[in-house]
Amino acid sequence: MSLLDADALPTPYDIWALWSRATVDTRSPFRTPTIATVGLDGTPEARTVVLRDAQQAERRLVLHSDSRAGKVRALRRHPTLAWHFWNPRHRLQVRASGPARLHRIGPVVDTAWAALSVHQQRTYAASPAPGTPLEAPGDGLPDLELAASGRDHFCVIEGIIQRIDILQLRRGGHRRCVLQWVGSEWTTRWVVP
Ligand SMILES: Cc1cc2nc3c(=O)[nH]c(=O)nc-3n(C[C@H](O)[C@H](O)[C@H](O)COP(=O)(O)O)c2cc1C
Repeated sequence: MSLLDADALPTPYDIWALWSRATVDTRSPFRTPTIATVGLDGTPEARTVVLRDAQQAERRLVLHSDSRAGKVRALRRHPTLAWHFWNPRHRLQVRASGPARLHRIGPVVDTAWAALSVHQQRTYAASPAPGTPLEAPGDGLPDLELAASGRDHFCVIEGIIQRIDILQLRRGGHRRCVLQWVGSEWTTRWVVP
């Protein structure tokens, strides 16, 4: 997991391998990153999500959400995402950012939807919409038989990564490096932590 212990700079492959593993390892802290968007009034907004997919070839990280959520409204206005990952055991922080794409229809969404359990599908069937004020505590979820109606709101959000900032805390001196997608390739350099 430690990326910057050796003197060699990490490669994009090294980083996507960590992300990719996190999509299948429910105990990995990298499975639940924080993502930040720019709110409609310009305020930064951060929240925890589940990392669903990571594809190095497309420089892509993926999450699932409800198309009525605040983050989706924010992304429609400012289609850019920042990702934050922290593994306390390995004392490793990875930050990533780049443009975002929203998918509500198409094969990618169909495949992701089909892979969800009925309970997961029902999450997207909440009524009224996420963020709506309530008179009393509640989750807005319908009976399980109505889970399929969540498909109307289910969406897949892709972050296309253009910059990666890695910080490794170490007793012998911290290490930090930045990978930047420039033109059609990654540049990598050490920077002062
Ligand atoms: C562990 C954890 C995982 C979560 N995963 C997701 C997720 O994958 N997608 C999502 O939209 N919200 C997820 N949430 C809920 C968000 O953190 C957030 O509360 C919700 O999406 C509303 O955010 P918004 O109003 O900024 O859109 C998760 C929350 C927690 C605590």
